[in-house]
Amino acid sequence: MSDTHLWSESTDFMEGLMAPADPVLEAVQRSADEAGLPQISLSPLQARLMQVLAGAIGARRILEVGTLAGFSGIHLARALPVDGKLITLEIDDRHADVAQANFERAGVADRVELIRGAAVDSLEQLAAEGCEPFDMAFIDADKVNNVNYLKWATEHSRSGALIVIDNVVRGGQVATGSDEDPSVAGTRAALRLAAEDDRLEATVIQTVGRKNFDGLCFIRRK
Ligand code: SAH
Ligand code: DHB
Ligand code: MG
Repeated sequence: MSDTHLWSESTDFMEGLMAPADPVLEAVQRSADEAGLPQISLSPLQARLMQVLAGAIGARRILEVGTLAGFSGIHLARALPVDGKLITLEIDDRHADVAQANFERAGVADRVELIRGAAVDSLEQLAAEGCEPFDMAFIDADKVNNVNYLKWATEHSRSGALIVIDNVVRGGQVATGSDEDPSVAGTRAALRLAAEDDRLEATVIQTVGRKNFDGLCFIRRK
């Protein structure tokens, strides 16, 4: 049996248990496909992991960089208390339109603030407004800015906060690829920062899905 076939069967089994059919989430993925958005959201099991972790740390304020259609954001928002808040940043208006409709569909729009524009600008604006520290940050947008996003999240999160970065393995390219690939270079630099900044404690979990080899970096703000 080929590895990819085994990964696919195992994914079906695990999703059947841990991420069972959910009409809202099915409608979210359908809306993304119909709008022609790229199929690059977290997998259902990964999104459930974000929900479990946000709940476990009792997160009340969560930052997400990279909204897409709102699939990961809905999972994060579902972990929030009623007075909690997810701030999610998206540069593409078309993605943001789809996501806003999906937050409403999921009944979490009251807990979600979707900010449009380049995330570095939105973060600068948030800092200028003196935003409260975050309990959790999920970084999943343009990889060239991963160091900027990690630095910002480090400065603006409470002690004990959790920072997660997606796509840190990229099929092994982050370990073996050239720094001339800006996404590889940006991700590698963020991993170095996570490893070397004394305020941070970090690890990486490598993942397989139906066909991809990738991973997530988990960082605790000391
Ligand atoms: N977190 C989502 C997937 C995000 S895909 C999920 O798991 O459901 C990455 C998203 O980041 C895309 O929607 C893309 O438009 C957005 N993005 C890319 N560059 C960006 C930037 N500079 N600022 C804000 N968003 C950006
Ligand atoms: C891409 C971006 C992502 O955040 C992801 O999870 C997968 C792919 C991309 O830009 O190709
Ligand atoms: Mg991603």
